[in-house]
Amino acid sequence: MTGETFLLTGSLGCIGAWVLRNLVSEGANIVASDLATDPIRPGQLLSDEELSRIHFTKLDVTDRKAVVGMVAEHGITHIIHLAGLQVPFCRANPSVGAAVNVVGTVNIFEAAREHWGQVKGLSYASSLAVLGPSHLYTDTPVRDDVDRIPQTLYGVYKTANEETARIYWQDWQIPSTALRPYIVYGVARDQGMTSDIAKAILATVAGKPYHIKFGGPVALQYADDVAKMFIACARSGYQGATSCNLRNDVLDVAEFVAVLKEELPSAEVTFNADNLLPFPADLDDSGLRSIIGDIPHTSLRAAIRDTADRFAALLSAGKVDLAQLN
Ligand SMILES: NC(=O)c1ccc[n+]([C@@H]2O[C@H](COP(=O)([O-])OP(=O)(O)OC[C@H]3O[C@@H](n4cnc5c(N)ncnc54)[C@H](O)[C@@H]3O)[C@@H](O)[C@H]2O)c1
Repeated sequence: MTGETFLLTGSLGCIGAWVLRNLVSEGANIVASDLATDPIRPGQLLSDEELSRIHFTKLDVTDRKAVVGMVAEHGITHIIHLAGLQVPFCRANPSVGAAVNVVGTVNIFEAAREHWGQVKGLSYASSLAVLGPSHLYTDTPVRDDVDRIPQTLYGVYKTANEETARIYWQDWQIPSTALRPYIVYGVARDQGMTSDIAKAILATVAGKPYHIKFGGPVALQYADDVAKMFIACARSGYQGATSCNLRNDVLDVAEFVAVLKEELPSAEVTFNADNLLPFPADLDDSGLRSIIGDIPHTSLRAAIRDTADRFAALLSAGKVDLAQLN
């Protein structure tokens, strides 16, 4: 849309790459920032010509001055904040995890506050990890406003961000929408605790067996759909500070494997039915629906086929590293 310039943080990550793909296909102005500099994941989704239309820049979200300066320098109107360190890294390096995930998010809110008016919308990544194990939530589907009982430092940091957002609305009327993905899957989902779903598809396309290290009920969200949700939330004009559960495909890992085998009969995929992820899967997404209307939702079968086709093309072009399967 004319007059819009998006600042994306964590743009070289999985969800970031899909946000770039969507924004580029609309012809939007984008400042694509990340601490990393090699656009490997965007390169799995965009052509060289499309990549050349994006302004890539290095930005460390822990650097307040740099974050605020970037919003000013580029006349940013919408911010999609995805930069973050995932569960294993926060556990291994709590101080760095807090600096990136918590201070980095405060810096984004500071930039929005200093330039609100020019900045018109802010969406950012929280996580379902703000919630506790499913047995603690007897009222289903689980609403956005249930108690947050995070079980990891990562979840604690994401909880802090949701509370930071609440205070920026309360004290300075800076509105924001947090999204809480559960399992995001698709091309470019190559790291993190729950990346096994995407890796099972990649392994099948590569002719290899794969073992998913968990089982039980989960909520699967196709990366393209999640990207569209972040963009729609940044543009929504929502007034307040809210955190939204995502739903899309709620099913057992056993059902995912069955559908995968129907779509890709060569699949040799197993899973660990005894290792349940410590989150509820039956999630209520009416909060998100009230903000953006219809929820982007590619069917599981269509998403598996799309992912398999993309992985096949990437494998023959030598653009995907199978070392991620080890
Ligand atoms: N993928 C999922 O299933 C999932 C689920 C819940 C929440 N999330 C959240 O969504 C966001 C994006 O997830 P993803 O899967 O794309 O993650 P990812 O790990 O693929 O990407 C994160 C990006 O953040 C960048 N980054 C790290 N430190 C930075 C810093 N100091 N400054 C700037 N950039 C920095 C990394 O270089 C990386 O490109 C994250 O905040 C994550 O916690 C993801």
